[in-house]
Amino acid sequence: MNKSELQQDSAYREDDDSDFSTLIESGLSRRRFMQGGAAAMGLFLAANPLAQAIAAVSSPTSKLLGFTALPTSTSDDFIVPQGYIAQPLISWGDPILKNAPAFDESGTQTSAAQAGQFGDNTDGMRFFPLSENRALLAVNNEYTNYLLLFAHQGKQLTADDVKKAQAAHGVSIFEVERKNDGHWHYLKESSYNRRITANTEMELTGAAAGHPLLKTNADPSGKKVLGTFNNCSNGETPWGTYLTCEENFNGYFAAPGAEMDQHQKRYGLKADKNKYQWHTFDSRFDMSQEPNEPHRHGWVVEIDPMDPTSTPKKRTALGRFKHENAALTLADNGHLVVYLGDDERGEHLYKFVSKNRYNPDNKAANRDLLEDGTLFAARFNADEGELKGAGEWLELTHGKNGLTAENGFADQASVLIYAREAATVVGATTMDRPEWVAVHPDNKTVFCTLTNNKNRGIQDNQPVTGPNPRAENKYGQIVRWEPDSADHTSRAFTWDLFLVAGNPSVHKDFYAGSANITDENMFNSPDGLGFDKAGRLWILTDGKYSNEGDFAGMGNNQMLCADPVSGEVRRFATGPIACEITGLTFSPDQRSMFVGVQHPGEKNAPSHFPAGGNSKPRSTIMVIQREDGGIIGA
Ligand code: FEO
Ligand code: CA
Ligand code: CA
Repeated sequence: MNKSELQQDSAYREDDDSDFSTLIESGLSRRRFMQGGAAAMGLFLAANPLAQAIAAVSSPTSKLLGFTALPTSTSDDFIVPQGYIAQPLISWGDPILKNAPAFDESGTQTSAAQAGQFGDNTDGMRFFPLSENRALLAVNNEYTNYLLLFAHQGKQLTADDVKKAQAAHGVSIFEVERKNDGHWHYLKESSYNRRITANTEMELTGAAAGHPLLKTNADPSGKKVLGTFNNCSNGETPWGTYLTCEENFNGYFAAPGAEMDQHQKRYGLKADKNKYQWHTFDSRFDMSQEPNEPHRHGWVVEIDPMDPTSTPKKRTALGRFKHENAALTLADNGHLVVYLGDDERGEHLYKFVSKNRYNPDNKAANRDLLEDGTLFAARFNADEGELKGAGEWLELTHGKNGLTAENGFADQASVLIYAREAATVVGATTMDRPEWVAVHPDNKTVFCTLTNNKNRGIQDNQPVTGPNPRAENKYGQIVRWEPDSADHTSRAFTWDLFLVAGNPSVHKDFYAGSANITDENMFNSPDGLGFDKAGRLWILTDGKYSNEGDFAGMGNNQMLCADPVSGEVRRFATGPIACEITGLTFSPDQRSMFVGVQHPGEKNAPSHFPAGGNSKPRSTIMVIQREDGGIIGA
């Protein structure tokens, strides 16, 4: 994509005939109308920022997309296009360590059993090749559902139940093999297989390691921490390590009856509301006893999947927030750049630039590139009513941009531990829940899903403007930016909206979505996002699956594929009942795609995926291949 293409305007649908009344009724347009007046509104409506997407809609002939689009689904199946096959690879509870028992759906297995089995709620993952037909998969197990984990559904929690829940979290690493049948199978007995849980010992590294705010009774060094949990998505380094991202860590801590301070509030820590109840049997989750333990979570963790004895490292240089994924790229000048979303309504988008340069001749020399560097938060600028603009990366370094002791930041460790508050001080833009970030394989453009945000236009710090252009945003959008001079270390960028999700059969205003959203491909809440080698953009949804009201006609959560140049979007897969589709990785030949089906049947919804019959629903990784062995999506 060249700059002029990127900078072509994008737009909401033009076929509104009731623009003003509808727009003025919404918080979004009331504000824009009042402030910008009719001239700005006229500009907004007349400009047609997604011109290329409109062309795609009228002539859907993208050469990149070679499959037949699927309709929506409300069935309890995982459905792929004609000519494709999808098979389960592994489900929650399948044994991956020697001596681990087979899954037993009674909900009475012990913590020891779960600690040897695939964790629950499969999420981000990455394929690490060992040879042409063998590889390791490193997979996040984001959280667990007590309704399914325990026969008592969480109502009579014991100490071992807490350990079992902790063992259902974390990361699973296991070997997979493409056997003579052409399909991938996981190998239970592989010596590579490993479970990392909420109790695995890890090292804190970087500027915050050893800081008083990271010290606890159990760890006076402030450098050793147990476990990782709520691991959402992931990244992969050029030197072959796996990055797992700690997202909603706050939900595991409690301090019954206590008042939360400003830092605790900003990170969503709550004294009494806690569905996991770990603090009742494990004092490190009780903030009245261990006020610093939450500071030791909310980081990106680096794991060497090839060495099952290696100690995972929490990389504090990448900041502490609700990390979604970590999208790495190498800038032309050799610095490693990591784009990072913080998935919360009104939080920010970040970028890390390594201090040192990548050494392509000596992989081992790069092992600590994530140890030291500069963190930035994004500010998106836009003229009133514009859906594109310029932006800048604001440095989060102690002593700069107001990040001083007078403003509550004693040192760089405090800036990293309270990165959210630092981003506010420097003036970063509040976003509609930044989820996954993906860098185009041409290394020029970057995309980020902004999944939805019911608070947009409602809360004062979340104005309706720029890349967050709709009040009470139910559907989400994908923002795209291009660093100046295609240099990812540059502080300047230009941005536009690649798509704005919506429901054109229910709405005729902004909530219909951008012109590349149609009755045939509509969806809500884009979340997972990734490119294949050819530059197809894969979009995975974690949205409302009611198929009613604002979501009528959207069906179950799904995966779509987009052409980032033409803007065309086609539905590629649909998931079973009450699931989210998340986690995406490919074999290097691009002929096998691994996709996660998370939480089918959540909240007692009637799913029996994947085994059918009366079985318990289980989060499952699916492998998608073509019947003719061809490249996925082509
Ligand atoms: Fe774990 Fe923001 O999704
Ligand atoms: Ca997600
Ligand atoms: Ca999500």
